[in-house]
Amino acid sequence: MKKWVTPHLKVIIIGNSGVGKSSFMTRYVNKHFTSRYRATIGVDFLTKEITIDSSSVILQIWDTAGTERFRSIGGTLYRGVHCCLLMFDVTSSASFAALEGWRKEFLEQAHPPEPCSFPFIVIGNKTDLENREVSHKVAVQWCNKVGAEYFEGSAKEDIDVDKAFSSAARAALLQY
Ligand code: GTP
Repeated sequence: MKKWVTPHLKVIIIGNSGVGKSSFMTRYVNKHFTSRYRATIGVDFLTKEITIDSSSVILQIWDTAGTERFRSIGGTLYRGVHCCLLMFDVTSSASFAALEGWRKEFLEQAHPPEPCSFPFIVIGNKTDLENREVSHKVAVQWCNKVGAEYFEGSAKEDIDVDKAFSSAARAALLQY
């Protein structure tokens, strides 16, 4: 008898420190937000069971520390990832400029079998703030260049958080 195993999809969120990676994940899984900043130490993960096109999957979301001193753990962490979320803060052009480096580092360390078609999803977080430095247009242009899908929203106001993760889950399932 064939036993059906629920697919476990591994997605990872990377990006500079403070862009809102932990907040975005917590908003999605626990429906909660706090303005208090607690830097992630190394790595953290949460899981959520969701349905994609009437199939049940377990989404395993890995949240990494954005600070330099934890970057060496990337290699082991990146292995087996089905979709990579690159996050920046729309009020910080430096965090947007850093995406190229994060993407490159991921590809070098994860060694996906087909790097050219590996799914990246870019998320511009903190759209609830007024002091925006990165426009939607500029973000889309870069995403088109590297072949990534783009979402923007806010962990604080719960704007398009579900949409970004649903898309990540779909892309991850195709890699599974
Ligand atoms: P590291 O763990 O250092 O890599 O940071 P991180 O990317 O996980 O950021 P974190 O989720 O800890 O958020 C950093 C700060 O930004 C916190 O004070 C959050 O409350 C705040 N923040 C996160 N998302 C949003 C958002 O959508 N809007 C606003 N206004 N603030 C946010």
